[in-house]
Amino acid sequence: MAFPVVDTEYLKEIDKARRDLRAFIALKNCAPIMLRLAWHDAGTYDVSTKTGGPNGSIRNEEEFTHGANSGLKIAIDFCEEVKAKHPKITYADLYQLAGVVAVEVTGGPTIDFVPGRKDSNICPREGRLPDAKRGAPHLRDIFYRMGLSDKDIVALSGGHTLGRAHPERSGFDGPWTNEPLKFDNSYFVELLKGESEGLLKLPTDKALFDDPEFRKYVELYAKVQHHNRMGSFCLTYTSRVI
Ligand code: HEM
Repeated sequence: MAFPVVDTEYLKEIDKARRDLRAFIALKNCAPIMLRLAWHDAGTYDVSTKTGGPNGSIRNEEEFTHGANSGLKIAIDFCEEVKAKHPKITYADLYQLAGVVAVEVTGGPTIDFVPGRKDSNICPREGRLPDAKRGAPHLRDIFYRMGLSDKDIVALSGGHTLGRAHPERSGFDGPWTNEPLKFDNSYFVELLKGESEGLLKLPTDKALFDDPEFRKYVELYAKVQHHNRMGSFCLTYTSRVI
């Protein structure tokens, strides 16, 4: 599939879609799952083969049925409503824009959105996204493959400031923070506090605390309320390289 032509008209359409997404996400309170959709479309990226990444391929049944994507069909269907009103916009752009808007409407930083991603129907093999039951070496394997660093791993994990786990989707249960619809650095603050009743810590979250390299950044981010890097996450990164 071809790259979209990013002209004035396309940019206008992006602006309109951004407004629609803002209203839709506020109405449905679905910021967390929209952010998770953006991340799971992007997080299959392989920097060495330049395959996977934010290309809208997650909309195909072959991919959204991967175990790691459980539940994301809901967000894909939400985005379809916006796509119907703005058919020019590629799915690849739309999903990342939904992630950007999700961060913004929940009080996070404004992310510089660069459009122009092309759609693909080529689905990556299952297993490119991280497995929540594993530890630091696994996180490094997965994120280094995307071309990301230790600092990026910690910053991106801050996405868990939003939303919760659902037993019927992942087998885990509960939110990471006390205000799962507010985008702030409380994920990091909670990580440093240790176990809190009613709050979740995945094995991969705990790995950020236990590993000294990762922990350095957890401590840094626990101190700053809005650091741009966390908001910018892979949206900015993957959007430019692909
Ligand atoms: C570091 C490796 C990661 C692992 C192992 C992981 C794993 C998980 C798991 C198991 C869930 C629960 C899904 C459910 O039951 O509904 C989840 C939810 C979520 N993840 Fe991650 N994740 C990771 C990184 C990220 C990143 C990088 C972001 C975004 C920047 C992100 C954003 C989210 C959000 C927003 C939710 C909540 C979804 C909802 O409330 O429906 N995650 N993640």
